[in-house]
Amino acid sequence: MRKPFIAGNWKMYKTVAEAVSLANGLKTALADVTTMELAVCTPATALAAVSGALAGSNIGVGAQNMYWKDEGAFTGEISPVMVKELARYVIIGHSERRQYFGETDETVNLKLKAALAHGLTPIVCIGESLEQNKAGETVPFVGAQIRGAFAGVSAAEAVNVVLAYEPIWAIGTGLTATPEDADRIIQVAIRDVLAELYDGAVAEAIRVQYGGSVKADNMADFIVMPNIDGALVGGASLKVDSFTGIVKNALAALGM
Ligand code: 13P
Repeated sequence: MRKPFIAGNWKMYKTVAEAVSLANGLKTALADVTTMELAVCTPATALAAVSGALAGSNIGVGAQNMYWKDEGAFTGEISPVMVKELARYVIIGHSERRQYFGETDETVNLKLKAALAHGLTPIVCIGESLEQNKAGETVPFVGAQIRGAFAGVSAAEAVNVVLAYEPIWAIGTGLTATPEDADRIIQVAIRDVLAELYDGAVAEAIRVQYGGSVKADNMADFIVMPNIDGALVGGASLKVDSFTGIVKNALAALGM
């Protein structure tokens, strides 16, 4: 049984003071959650303060990106060694990074291998654009993203990866995939490809979140789908009430 996992992606929001305030609010509101894994992925500037605020709580901390080398002359980047001091998770290959910052399947693969080598839990994002969706290219495109991300990753390491299926056209738009479509794409473009790359056991072990306009009032519809193990939440993770509502509705829908 895959443990459900809901993570917030705070993107480029929150000063350190605002981030600590949100973290403290979530810590109180979600203190009784034991059956679901929870995390917040903060801006790099807030990682230290938020990891301090959430120390000993049931909410993990994640970074939103990192470089793949341990150290070096790479101005502006942060390394897995640096992330590991402050966080347990790292988002890799978010569509905004692919779109605006030149992230490719190759850099995603390098970052994924670096995260695994350092014992971080990577949350690897995949998903198609509106044009690809309309052209019926979703399954081959997402499948190729999976093949690219996992190139050279062993089965023993692969089971530690979390995936987030985030259709680009659903991010920040208020539009969502239907739960049935998301579930089907995760089956055929993600789990079936993982089964081919590894085996059925690995394909069944890897957790896949849905992302894209997840809110308290649609979370239940996604979390009950057999292939969907949680959510990666953007906008609705920026307030205590909306993120708490998502977690509570997911727990209720799962009868947990
Ligand atoms: P929204 O929840 O704001 O649509 O963002 C989704 C996302 O990109 C999470 O990584």
